[in-house]
Amino acid sequence: MNAQTQTYPETLPAEFANGHTAWTSPSNIALVKYWGKYDNQIPANPSISITLSACHTKTEMEWSAAENGPEVEFYFEGKANEAFGNKIKKFLESQLPQRPYLSGMRFRLGSENTFPHSAGIASSASGMSAFCMCLVEMERRVFGLHTDDASFYREASVLSRLASGSASRSVYGGLVSWGAIDALPETSDLFASKYEGQVHPDFQNLQDSIIICDRGEKSVSSRAGHGLMKTNPYATRRFEHARENMDALLQAIGEGDFNRFAELVENEALTLHGMMMMSYPWFILMKPKTLELLDIMKQYREQHGIRMCFTLDAGPNIHLIYPESEKEKVHTFLNNEIAKHLPGNSIIFDKEGNGPVKLK
Ligand code: PMV
Repeated sequence: MNAQTQTYPETLPAEFANGHTAWTSPSNIALVKYWGKYDNQIPANPSISITLSACHTKTEMEWSAAENGPEVEFYFEGKANEAFGNKIKKFLESQLPQRPYLSGMRFRLGSENTFPHSAGIASSASGMSAFCMCLVEMERRVFGLHTDDASFYREASVLSRLASGSASRSVYGGLVSWGAIDALPETSDLFASKYEGQVHPDFQNLQDSIIICDRGEKSVSSRAGHGLMKTNPYATRRFEHARENMDALLQAIGEGDFNRFAELVENEALTLHGMMMMSYPWFILMKPKTLELLDIMKQYREQHGIRMCFTLDAGPNIHLIYPESEKEKVHTFLNNEIAKHLPGNSIIFDKEGNGPVKLK
Protein backbone atom coordinates (compact mmCIF):
# COMPACT_ATOMS: atom_id res chain seq x y z
CA MET A 1 0.00 0.00 0.00
CA ASN A 2 1.32 3.44 -0.90
CA ALA A 3 2.38 5.48 2.14
CA GLN A 4 0.12 8.36 1.10
CA THR A 5 -3.11 6.44 0.59
CA GLN A 6 -3.00 4.15 3.61
CA THR A 7 -5.88 4.75 6.01
CA TYR A 8 -5.81 3.45 9.54
CA PRO A 9 -8.56 1.92 11.71
CA GLU A 10 -10.57 3.97 14.23
CA THR A 11 -9.46 1.86 17.20
CA LEU A 12 -6.86 -0.62 18.34
CA PRO A 13 -7.90 -4.30 18.53
CA ALA A 14 -8.65 -5.05 22.22
CA GLU A 15 -5.88 -7.67 22.50
CA PHE A 16 -3.30 -5.01 21.55
CA ALA A 17 -4.65 -2.19 23.73
CA ASN A 18 -1.41 -2.14 25.73
CA GLY A 19 2.10 -2.69 24.54
CA HIS A 20 5.69 -1.62 24.52
CA THR A 21 8.52 -1.14 22.04
CA ALA A 22 11.93 0.55 21.96
CA TRP A 23 14.27 1.76 19.22
CA THR A 24 17.49 3.66 18.88
CA SER A 25 17.89 6.01 15.94
CA PRO A 26 20.94 8.03 14.91
CA SER A 27 21.54 11.67 14.11
CA ASN A 28 22.72 12.54 10.60
CA ILE A 29 24.84 15.28 9.06
CA ALA A 30 23.85 16.74 5.69
CA LEU A 31 26.44 17.19 2.93
CA VAL A 32 23.98 18.95 0.61
CA LYS A 33 21.68 20.90 2.89
CA TYR A 34 17.93 21.06 3.15
CA TRP A 35 17.08 24.67 3.96
CA GLY A 36 13.71 25.96 2.77
CA LYS A 37 10.47 24.04 2.37
CA TYR A 38 6.91 24.17 1.05
CA ASP A 39 3.69 23.13 2.78
CA ASN A 40 3.44 19.59 4.13
CA GLN A 41 7.21 19.42 4.70
CA ILE A 42 8.08 19.26 1.01
CA PRO A 43 11.74 20.24 0.66
CA ALA A 44 12.66 23.05 -1.72
CA ASN A 45 15.67 21.01 -2.88
CA PRO A 46 17.01 17.48 -2.42
CA SER A 47 19.59 16.83 0.31
CA ILE A 48 22.01 14.03 1.16
CA SER A 49 23.50 13.09 4.50
CA ILE A 50 25.70 10.66 6.35
CA THR A 51 23.83 8.72 9.01
CA LEU A 52 25.92 8.78 12.17
CA SER A 53 26.64 6.01 14.63
CA ALA A 54 27.70 7.20 18.11
CA CYS A 55 25.27 10.14 18.22
CA HIS A 56 21.85 8.61 18.62
CA THR A 57 18.64 8.67 20.64
CA LYS A 58 17.10 5.73 22.47
CA THR A 59 13.33 5.88 22.88
CA GLU A 60 11.05 3.51 24.78
CA MET A 61 7.34 3.70 24.12
CA GLU A 62 4.48 2.26 26.15
CA TRP A 63 1.00 2.58 24.77
CA SER A 64 -2.44 2.17 26.33
CA ALA A 65 -6.04 3.32 25.85
CA ALA A 66 -7.24 6.88 26.64
CA GLU A 67 -10.60 8.63 26.37
CA ASN A 68 -9.37 11.90 24.88
CA GLY A 69 -6.17 11.04 23.15
CA PRO A 70 -3.59 11.38 21.97
CA GLU A 71 -2.20 11.79 25.48
CA VAL A 72 1.56 11.99 25.88
CA GLU A 73 3.75 11.68 28.96
CA PHE A 74 7.40 12.31 28.11
CA TYR A 75 10.55 11.65 30.14
CA PHE A 76 13.84 12.93 28.80
CA GLU A 77 16.88 11.42 30.47
CA GLY A 78 14.72 10.28 33.37
CA LYS A 79 12.98 13.63 34.03
CA ALA A 80 9.44 14.58 32.99
CA ASN A 81 9.70 16.99 30.04
CA GLU A 82 6.51 18.81 29.18
CA ALA A 83 7.97 20.75 26.23
CA PHE A 84 9.09 17.58 24.42
CA GLY A 85 5.79 15.88 25.31
CA ASN A 86 3.79 18.77 23.85
CA LYS A 87 5.82 18.64 20.65
CA ILE A 88 5.01 14.94 20.18
CA LYS A 89 1.36 15.51 21.11
CA LYS A 90 1.04 18.27 18.52
CA PHE A 91 2.63 16.05 15.91
CA LEU A 92 0.25 13.16 16.76
CA GLU A 93 -2.72 15.52 16.56
CA SER A 94 -1.62 16.53 13.07
CA GLN A 95 -1.80 12.82 12.15
CA LEU A 96 -5.40 12.36 13.39
CA PRO A 97 -7.11 12.78 9.98
CA GLN A 98 -5.13 9.83 8.60
CA ARG A 99 -4.70 7.95 11.89
CA PRO A 100 -8.01 8.34 13.78
CA TYR A 101 -7.04 5.54 16.19
CA LEU A 102 -4.65 7.99 17.89
CA SER A 103 -7.60 9.75 19.54
CA GLY A 104 -8.04 6.67 21.76
CA MET A 105 -4.42 6.38 22.79
CA ARG A 106 -2.02 7.32 25.50
CA PHE A 107 1.77 7.18 25.14
CA ARG A 108 4.39 7.08 27.83
CA LEU A 109 7.76 7.85 26.32
CA GLY A 110 11.24 7.68 27.80
CA SER A 111 14.05 9.06 25.70
CA GLU A 112 17.77 9.63 26.09
CA ASN A 113 20.60 10.83 23.85
CA THR A 114 24.13 9.47 23.74
CA PHE A 115 25.33 13.03 23.14
CA PRO A 116 24.77 16.01 25.43
CA HIS A 117 21.47 17.77 24.64
CA SER A 118 23.16 21.13 25.19
CA ALA A 119 25.98 20.34 22.72
CA GLY A 120 24.06 21.90 19.87
CA ILE A 121 24.03 18.65 17.89
CA ALA A 122 20.86 18.19 15.83
CA SER A 123 18.74 16.09 18.17
CA SER A 124 15.43 16.43 16.34
CA ALA A 125 16.59 14.05 13.58
CA SER A 126 17.50 11.24 15.99
CA GLY A 127 14.73 12.02 18.51
CA MET A 128 11.89 12.26 16.02
CA SER A 129 13.02 9.29 13.93
CA ALA A 130 13.39 7.13 17.08
CA PHE A 131 9.83 8.04 18.07
CA CYS A 132 8.51 7.34 14.53
CA MET A 133 10.28 3.96 14.41
CA CYS A 134 8.39 3.07 17.63
CA LEU A 135 5.05 4.27 16.23
CA VAL A 136 5.39 2.42 12.92
CA GLU A 137 6.55 -0.69 14.80
CA MET A 138 3.39 -0.46 16.94
CA GLU A 139 1.24 -0.17 13.78
CA ARG A 140 2.99 -3.19 12.32
CA ARG A 141 2.19 -5.32 15.38
CA VAL A 142 -1.27 -3.97 16.14
CA PHE A 143 -2.77 -3.61 12.65
CA GLY A 144 -0.57 -6.03 10.69
CA LEU A 145 0.53 -3.15 8.40
CA HIS A 146 3.96 -2.28 6.97
CA THR A 147 4.87 -5.96 7.17
CA ASP A 148 7.62 -6.00 4.55
CA ASP A 149 10.74 -4.12 5.53
CA ALA A 150 10.72 -1.82 2.49
CA SER A 151 7.28 -0.42 3.33
CA PHE A 152 8.07 -0.37 7.07
CA TYR A 153 11.14 1.85 6.63
CA ARG A 154 9.45 3.95 3.97
CA GLU A 155 6.50 4.69 6.26
CA ALA A 156 8.91 5.48 9.11
CA SER A 157 10.68 7.92 6.78
CA VAL A 158 7.44 9.57 5.62
CA LEU A 159 6.33 10.00 9.21
CA SER A 160 9.75 11.24 10.36
CA ARG A 161 9.75 13.79 7.53
CA LEU A 162 6.43 15.15 8.75
CA ALA A 163 7.82 15.36 12.31
CA SER A 164 11.14 17.02 11.36
CA GLY A 165 12.35 17.08 7.73
CA SER A 166 15.93 15.92 8.26
CA ALA A 167 14.68 13.05 10.50
CA SER A 168 13.43 11.33 7.33
CA ARG A 169 17.07 10.56 6.45
CA SER A 170 17.94 8.99 9.82
CA VAL A 171 15.77 5.95 9.05
CA TYR A 172 18.49 4.42 6.82
CA GLY A 173 22.20 3.82 7.30
CA GLY A 174 25.09 5.08 5.18
CA LEU A 175 24.59 7.83 2.62
CA VAL A 176 20.93 8.81 2.47
CA SER A 177 19.15 11.27 0.20
CA TRP A 178 15.78 12.94 0.58
CA GLY A 179 13.98 14.82 -2.17
CA ALA A 180 13.43 14.01 -5.84
CA ILE A 181 16.72 13.81 -7.79
CA ASP A 182 16.29 13.61 -11.58
CA ALA A 183 19.04 11.03 -12.05
CA LEU A 184 17.61 8.74 -9.33
CA PRO A 185 14.02 7.81 -10.25
CA GLU A 186 13.30 6.03 -6.94
CA THR A 187 13.85 9.23 -4.93
CA SER A 188 10.95 11.35 -3.71
CA ASP A 189 10.14 14.53 -1.83
CA LEU A 190 7.97 12.41 0.48
CA PHE A 191 10.59 10.10 1.95
CA ALA A 192 14.32 9.47 2.08
CA SER A 193 16.16 6.68 0.27
CA LYS A 194 19.43 4.92 0.90
CA TYR A 195 21.83 6.17 -1.76
CA GLU A 196 22.27 3.28 -4.19
CA GLY A 197 24.52 5.01 -6.74
CA GLN A 198 28.21 4.34 -7.12
CA VAL A 199 30.29 4.98 -3.99
CA HIS A 200 34.08 4.92 -4.38
CA PRO A 201 35.81 2.95 -1.55
CA ASP A 202 37.19 6.26 -0.15
CA PHE A 203 33.63 7.35 0.59
CA GLN A 204 32.58 4.13 2.26
CA ASN A 205 32.55 4.44 6.03
CA LEU A 206 33.18 8.20 6.13
CA GLN A 207 34.29 9.57 9.49
CA ASP A 208 32.79 12.59 11.26
CA SER A 209 34.50 14.23 14.22
CA ILE A 210 32.25 16.82 15.80
CA ILE A 211 34.05 19.78 17.35
CA ILE A 212 31.79 21.44 19.90
CA CYS A 213 32.68 25.12 19.65
CA ASP A 214 29.73 26.32 21.71
CA ARG A 215 27.30 24.50 23.97
CA GLY A 216 24.52 27.07 23.89
CA GLU A 217 20.99 26.53 22.62
CA LYS A 218 20.32 27.33 18.95
CA SER A 219 19.55 31.01 18.40
CA VAL A 220 17.10 30.28 15.57
CA SER A 221 14.78 27.27 15.42
CA SER A 222 14.75 25.17 12.25
CA ARG A 223 11.13 26.11 11.68
CA ALA A 224 11.94 29.84 11.77
CA GLY A 225 15.07 29.27 9.66
CA HIS A 226 13.19 27.47 6.89
CA GLY A 227 10.57 30.24 7.06
CA LEU A 228 13.23 32.88 6.38
CA MET A 229 13.88 31.31 2.98
CA LYS A 230 10.39 32.42 1.90
CA THR A 231 11.54 36.04 1.79
CA ASN A 232 15.25 35.56 1.12
CA PRO A 233 16.01 37.31 -2.21
CA TYR A 234 18.53 34.58 -3.12
CA ALA A 235 16.25 31.62 -2.33
CA THR A 236 15.36 30.56 -5.88
CA ARG A 237 18.99 30.62 -6.98
CA ARG A 238 19.97 28.72 -3.84
CA PHE A 239 17.52 25.90 -4.56
CA GLU A 240 18.98 25.53 -8.09
CA HIS A 241 22.49 25.75 -6.67
CA ALA A 242 21.75 22.89 -4.24
CA ARG A 243 20.67 20.73 -7.21
CA GLU A 244 23.87 21.58 -9.09
CA ASN A 245 25.92 20.77 -5.98
CA MET A 246 24.02 17.49 -5.54
CA ASP A 247 24.81 16.35 -9.11
CA ALA A 248 28.46 17.33 -8.75
CA LEU A 249 28.75 15.73 -5.29
CA LEU A 250 27.32 12.41 -6.45
CA GLN A 251 29.82 12.43 -9.31
CA ALA A 252 32.71 13.12 -6.92
CA ILE A 253 31.52 10.32 -4.60
CA GLY A 254 31.39 7.89 -7.51
CA GLU A 255 34.81 8.88 -8.87
CA GLY A 256 36.56 9.12 -5.50
CA ASP A 257 37.46 12.79 -6.04
CA PHE A 258 37.95 13.97 -2.46
CA ASN A 259 39.13 17.47 -3.37
CA ARG A 260 35.97 18.16 -5.36
CA PHE A 261 33.88 16.57 -2.58
CA ALA A 262 35.53 18.86 -0.01
CA GLU A 263 34.95 21.96 -2.15
CA LEU A 264 31.25 21.15 -2.52
CA VAL A 265 30.61 20.12 1.09
CA GLU A 266 32.25 23.27 2.43
CA ASN A 267 30.40 25.39 -0.09
CA GLU A 268 27.10 23.87 1.08
CA ALA A 269 27.87 24.65 4.72
CA LEU A 270 28.89 28.24 4.03
CA THR A 271 25.97 28.79 1.67
CA LEU A 272 23.56 27.64 4.40
CA HIS A 273 25.15 30.11 6.81
CA GLY A 274 25.30 32.79 4.12
CA MET A 275 21.58 32.37 3.50
CA MET A 276 20.95 33.02 7.17
CA MET A 277 23.13 36.11 7.12
CA MET A 278 21.20 37.38 4.09
CA SER A 279 17.76 36.78 5.62
CA TYR A 280 15.43 39.34 7.17
CA PRO A 281 16.05 39.25 10.12
CA TRP A 282 19.64 38.01 9.81
CA PHE A 283 21.33 35.40 11.97
CA ILE A 284 25.01 34.67 12.41
CA LEU A 285 25.18 31.14 13.79
CA MET A 286 28.94 30.67 13.77
CA LYS A 287 30.83 31.78 16.88
CA PRO A 288 34.31 33.33 17.06
CA LYS A 289 35.61 29.88 18.09
CA THR A 290 34.11 28.35 14.92
CA LEU A 291 36.02 30.81 12.74
CA GLU A 292 39.24 30.44 14.74
CA LEU A 293 39.20 26.64 14.44
CA LEU A 294 38.21 26.64 10.76
CA ASP A 295 41.20 28.83 10.07
CA ILE A 296 43.51 26.45 11.93
CA MET A 297 42.02 23.50 10.04
CA LYS A 298 42.49 25.17 6.66
CA GLN A 299 46.13 26.05 7.31
CA TYR A 300 46.95 22.60 8.71
CA ARG A 301 45.29 20.93 5.73
CA GLU A 302 47.34 23.01 3.31
CA GLN A 303 50.58 22.25 5.17
CA HIS A 304 50.00 18.52 5.65
CA GLY A 305 47.86 17.62 2.65
CA ILE A 306 45.31 15.76 4.77
CA ARG A 307 42.06 14.82 3.10
CA MET A 308 39.52 16.33 5.48
CA CYS A 309 36.80 18.92 5.09
CA PHE A 310 34.24 20.60 7.27
CA THR A 311 30.53 21.05 7.32
CA LEU A 312 28.19 22.86 9.71
CA ASP A 313 24.61 22.36 10.80
CA ALA A 314 22.45 25.39 11.55
CA GLY A 315 24.75 26.13 14.48
CA PRO A 316 28.36 26.85 15.49
CA ASN A 317 29.78 23.33 15.78
CA ILE A 318 32.17 21.92 13.20
CA HIS A 319 31.77 18.48 11.64
CA LEU A 320 35.08 17.32 10.23
CA ILE A 321 34.47 14.75 7.49
CA TYR A 322 37.24 12.46 6.21
CA PRO A 323 37.85 9.02 4.71
CA GLU A 324 38.61 6.17 7.11
CA SER A 325 42.14 5.94 5.69
CA GLU A 326 42.91 9.46 7.06
CA LYS A 327 41.70 8.63 10.56
CA GLU A 328 45.07 8.49 12.29
CA LYS A 329 46.30 11.75 10.78
CA VAL A 330 43.05 13.59 11.53
CA HIS A 331 42.97 12.33 15.12
CA THR A 332 46.55 13.52 15.60
CA PHE A 333 45.52 16.93 14.24
CA LEU A 334 42.45 17.11 16.49
CA ASN A 335 44.28 15.97 19.61
CA ASN A 336 47.37 18.16 19.08
CA GLU A 337 46.01 21.28 17.40
CA ILE A 338 42.32 21.60 18.22
CA ALA A 339 41.66 20.07 21.66
CA LYS A 340 43.87 22.68 23.41
CA HIS A 341 41.53 25.48 22.29
CA LEU A 342 38.48 23.89 23.94
CA PRO A 343 37.25 22.62 27.31
CA GLY A 344 37.60 18.85 27.92
CA ASN A 345 35.36 16.41 26.05
CA SER A 346 34.61 18.85 23.23
CA ILE A 347 35.27 16.44 20.37
CA ILE A 348 32.97 13.55 19.51
CA PHE A 349 34.60 10.96 17.25
CA ASP A 350 31.76 9.62 15.17
CA LYS A 351 31.41 7.93 11.79
CA GLU A 352 28.92 6.55 9.33
CA GLY A 353 26.45 4.14 10.93
CA ASN A 354 23.84 1.58 9.95
CA GLY A 355 20.63 3.34 10.97
CA PRO A 356 17.96 2.58 13.59
CA VAL A 357 18.04 -0.54 15.76
CA LYS A 358 15.10 -2.23 17.42
CA LEU A 359 15.83 -3.01 21.06
CA LYS A 360 14.88 -6.33 22.57
O1 PMV B 1 14.97 18.93 9.95
P1 PMV B 1 15.01 20.37 10.28
O2 PMV B 1 13.71 21.06 9.98
O3 PMV B 1 15.48 20.58 11.70
O4 PMV B 1 16.07 21.10 9.32
C1 PMV B 1 17.43 20.79 9.37
C2 PMV B 1 18.19 21.58 8.41
C3 PMV B 1 19.69 21.41 8.45
O5 PMV B 1 20.11 20.58 9.50
C4 PMV B 1 20.35 22.76 8.63
C5 PMV B 1 20.19 20.84 7.11
C6 PMV B 1 19.89 19.40 6.86
O6 PMV B 1 19.64 19.08 5.70
O7 PMV B 1 19.93 18.59 7.80
